[in-house]
Amino acid sequence: SVARQAPAPKRVGFTSGFGVLAATLGSAVGLGNIWKFPYLTGANGGAGFLLVYLLATLLVGLPVMIVEIALGREARANPISALQALAPRRQPWWLIGAAGMLAAFLILSFYSEVVAWVFAYVLKAMRGSILSSDPHVTEAAFSALIGDPLQSLLWQWGVLVFIGSILLMGVTRGIEALSKKLMPLLFLLLLLLCAVSLSLDRVVDGLAFLFKPDFSKMSAAVVLTAVGLAFFKLSVGMGTMLTYGSYFRDDQNIPVTTFCVMSADLCVSMLAGIAIFPAVFTFGFAPAAGPALVFITIPAVFSRIPMGQWLMVVFFVLAAVAATGAMLSMMEVPVVILHERFGLSRTSAILLTIVLLVFSGAACALSNSTLASFKLFGLNLFDLFDFVSSNIILPAGGIFIAVFVGWVWGRDKFRLALSNHGQLHNEKLVDVVFFLLRYVSPLLILIVMLKGLNLF
Ligand code: PFF
Repeated sequence: SVARQAPAPKRVGFTSGFGVLAATLGSAVGLGNIWKFPYLTGANGGAGFLLVYLLATLLVGLPVMIVEIALGREARANPISALQALAPRRQPWWLIGAAGMLAAFLILSFYSEVVAWVFAYVLKAMRGSILSSDPHVTEAAFSALIGDPLQSLLWQWGVLVFIGSILLMGVTRGIEALSKKLMPLLFLLLLLLCAVSLSLDRVVDGLAFLFKPDFSKMSAAVVLTAVGLAFFKLSVGMGTMLTYGSYFRDDQNIPVTTFCVMSADLCVSMLAGIAIFPAVFTFGFAPAAGPALVFITIPAVFSRIPMGQWLMVVFFVLAAVAATGAMLSMMEVPVVILHERFGLSRTSAILLTIVLLVFSGAACALSNSTLASFKLFGLNLFDLFDFVSSNIILPAGGIFIAVFVGWVWGRDKFRLALSNHGQLHNEKLVDVVFFLLRYVSPLLILIVMLKGLNLF
């Protein structure tokens, strides 16, 4: 069936094993760790949520990440063409790729707005106006920013122009190289924040919240949110990892690479959590403050550090760098599909994607001001885009990818892909991952989705 496809355009892949790891890690690590993970953990009761999220990452996120990359590398094409090429004739598995493209637009719409806040905070930090441990001060600064339609829009356009320029200038590799050098710095800065947070008065409350499970807050909706976060974090369920897999080298060890990415990604999230929760309790913030949590708490922690103002500037710059790697990987899904499938030049594909994002992004940028009263299912557009993508499209994509590999593509092809078409070093691993994909992951996600969405 591969023969039905038009000959693949010449594709440039990653050149070194370490480059592959760095780019994949660059997609996973982003505002998901620094912004979404702490805010969802805070809003959903702490340690119990964390535990479910960890389980979801291992039982569902990791196996789906492994197969997405394997499928991409086998087909060496965009998600739609890849699934058309790998599936038996006329079976519409390519729809996973189409849904992924929709997810990319939804996520980029709100993600670019959060990056917009990060950009704005770099400037605010330089001015020194938000360096305070008084919740009223930091909360007022944040509300003023998100409640101002013009500022929200302009910063978002800045982010979109920035990301579009990187893609148009074809310097994504350069950015990856740069972020490879800067990420250790973000790690160090998070360590410093943790050290400060661990010296605060109510450190015990903060750590108990994060690590001592209290299942009274647990509900089907909370479990679905944790599963959604596991997908969002690892950039899976929408074809991003499939696309990156299509750039993987033939000799790259896929399970080892994914395991490293997952572990490093979890470390960054944990550091962010340890940096934030002791401060939340010490300074009297609400753990359930929602998307504002990081933006109101982080300035309070920095206010306790000598030179905190400038370190905070560095922190938000590094957060923007981390977010850039994630955004570039998301952009790649629609851009490569529009380019390879719909015959647009890469330049037109990039421009079209950015223009569409200006419109769909505005819906999120204005959701706390002009459009604040516009709600669907009780959610404003920012939260709705997040909910639909993270809690519906990504998990559903995960189900279909797992079912496709477990029941259609089959064990032999999966085994061949994981062995790099050569000798397999770990037969057990293939068995375990394949078993998860065939029986465990799809059922687990399905039950969680049906319960979480209150469908049965
Ligand atoms: N994993 C990224 C983060 O946690 O910030 C977000 C993300 C990137 C989600 C790419 C989905 C995606 F395809």
